[in-house]
Amino acid sequence: MTDSAASGDFAPSGEAAPSSDAADFVVVANRLPVDVVRDADGTLTWKQSPGGLVTALKPILAARQGAWVGWPGAPDVGDGPVVGDGMTLVPVQLSQQEVNEHYEGFSNGSLWPLYHDVIVKPEYHREWWNTYVDVNRRFAEATASVAAEGATVWVQDYQLQLVPRMLRMLRPDLRIGFFLHIPFPPVELFMQMPWRTEIIEGILGADLVGFHLAGGAQNFLYLAKRLCGYNTSRGQVGVRSRFGVVSVGFRSVRVGAFPISIDSAELDRTARTAETKARAKRLRRELGDPAKVMLGVDRLDYTKGIDVRLRAIGELYAEGRLDPAEHVFVQLATPSRERVESYRTMRDDIERQVGRINGEYGRVGHPAVHYIHRPVPRDELLAFFSAADVMLVTPLRDGMNLVAKEYLACRPDGGGALVLSEFTGAAAELKQAYQCNPHDLDGVKNAIDDAVHQDREEGRKRIRAMRRQVLQYDVDLWARSFLDTLSGHIDTVRDTGDGQ
Ligand code: ADP
Ligand code: F6P
Repeated sequence: MTDSAASGDFAPSGEAAPSSDAADFVVVANRLPVDVVRDADGTLTWKQSPGGLVTALKPILAARQGAWVGWPGAPDVGDGPVVGDGMTLVPVQLSQQEVNEHYEGFSNGSLWPLYHDVIVKPEYHREWWNTYVDVNRRFAEATASVAAEGATVWVQDYQLQLVPRMLRMLRPDLRIGFFLHIPFPPVELFMQMPWRTEIIEGILGADLVGFHLAGGAQNFLYLAKRLCGYNTSRGQVGVRSRFGVVSVGFRSVRVGAFPISIDSAELDRTARTAETKARAKRLRRELGDPAKVMLGVDRLDYTKGIDVRLRAIGELYAEGRLDPAEHVFVQLATPSRERVESYRTMRDDIERQVGRINGEYGRVGHPAVHYIHRPVPRDELLAFFSAADVMLVTPLRDGMNLVAKEYLACRPDGGGALVLSEFTGAAAELKQAYQCNPHDLDGVKNAIDDAVHQDREEGRKRIRAMRRQVLQYDVDLWARSFLDTLSGHIDTVRDTGDGQ
């Protein structure tokens, strides 16, 4: 792969990695941390891939100088490893049909809706499954060819659940971890999956299996016993007893909760700079210096509850509890999975809602809702966080939600307020947020109203408490606790104080 013009803050050098350069630490994820984009003249450029997984793992891998095996984000590109930003990128080339059936089909048309409480009806097609198996095998083979003898391999997320078992068969010398970045569903829902036993067996190829929350780990343990007939034990490992163990033949597979986090110190540092403060001020000015700025930052995904917050804000304007001249809402929405039908329908719905609210409550040059459908550069995003009085995070279901944590890290001034759905993983840690049930519209409206009109001192107390949590439990601690457990250096997980 060549990179003619690197873009964003991540720039592979284009230098070919020597094939003898086997890596001691390998991350395997559906996507590389950068996407390749083909320009009109055929040249390939890079941009950072969307989503929380890349945000979390990029600093971890760069610090460890490892290899990252993944798909470059476009069909039929990726010939051989390249080196950049302290890591080796190992592209797995996928054809258009594989992208259709593995990524858009089985991963995002079957697994994603099933694991997110069937908000959208999952579809199950045998040809999607067959391609999922084939693509997982290709990832396992690519990983087997770059991992050094005895290396640690960390497999990520729902797109690659069969890789741990396949990889173990190819390379029994490896130490294999698996982490699921999205919720693991309740047992009754998982039982819908036609290939449920194969998926559980696939994941059990790992030595350590991690979820965000203890509930996901418990569901998984139950299924390992019920579907595969393995003996399981709970709470036998470590002081805090957050692990379970599955006995797979002579192997013990540990299963536990590892709530992911962010590089909070880095965000905190950037938010304190004069540049970020000036940008934040400029943003507020450009918005017309309203009394309160409300902000949403998401991939444009039906799980994120963007429609919920728009409905709530529309009704609050209608009832006069918010004033569109004083309380503006900014929604930053990164395009996501645009070829999947349910995502297209949702985008149309959201854009209709934005148009309707602005039609009713906007004035010339002063929309009530600002909607930006493209990724915002990192520095600009941090300025938005710094400028926002109220952050709206209202998913119907979300494994963790890093945006909530990023917002808090960007508030060293102690200002702001967080409205947070109970159905995010983050809600388990961020108890001082204005929590709400996104299915209860009146509850969401009240939470927004309370956050907008909060007492200043009360607000600062809440933010201070949540910032302590986010600054203390950062992404490095998350990765260390997972990897140290995987390597056997520790046999317990950290206590986040969340009672999970
Ligand atoms: P998910 O992994 O489902 O996308 P997360 O909230 O965990 O959700 O992570 C999303 C990541 O993508 C965060 O790091 C966030 O800052 C980033 N992000 C989301 N929306 C945008 C946007 N419009 N512009 C730039 N970055 C974004
Ligand atoms: O964490 C959920 C996740 O699906 C990641 O696996 C992925 O990197 C991110 O969201 C973005 O999704 P996609 O790769 O489909 O754009």
